[in-house]
Amino acid sequence: MHSTAHSPRLLIANGVNLDLLGSRQPELYGKLPLGEIYKRLEQFNQSLPQLFGFAPCGLSFFQTNSEEHFLAQLSAEPWDGALINPGAWTHSSLALGDRLAALQLPFVEVHLSNLARREALRQHSYSAPHALGVVYGFGADSYLAGFTALLAQLLQKTTRADH
Ligand code: DQA
Repeated sequence: MHSTAHSPRLLIANGVNLDLLGSRQPELYGKLPLGEIYKRLEQFNQSLPQLFGFAPCGLSFFQTNSEEHFLAQLSAEPWDGALINPGAWTHSSLALGDRLAALQLPFVEVHLSNLARREALRQHSYSAPHALGVVYGFGADSYLAGFTALLAQLLQKTTRADH
């Protein structure tokens, strides 16, 4: 995010059942399909030069219903950062927490629904302790807010490293 640095390569990773967005319980998850959320993120990314004067990031969009593939994707490339919505694995996968702890990947966790208002078993996240932060409850806008927060964190890191 420094003018001489390469633009950050960010993974946008969605886990189990997020392929169903649009038709899945719209009262909880909204009516936008995942592809629309990707489009909004990419539009925002492309407007970074006008908004903030720095180059767009390289965004890689990924969704899978296989936990094995999700874990593999986290280390498939030397990502500069990630935005992840692991879906139900958030609350069930010790393996996900272990991998995120091992990778030291700077990431923001996002959820469409307001987890604080949901069942007790959704109050625990295996991934959150390893995240820079968590955004939930804003529907598709959780992704935009999470992306903005991730950029701000990466920018601070780069700026600190420059001095
Ligand atoms: C979710 C919340 C999870 O509890 C749930 O299992 C999902 C979606 C969300 O984005 O609100 O699949 O991650």
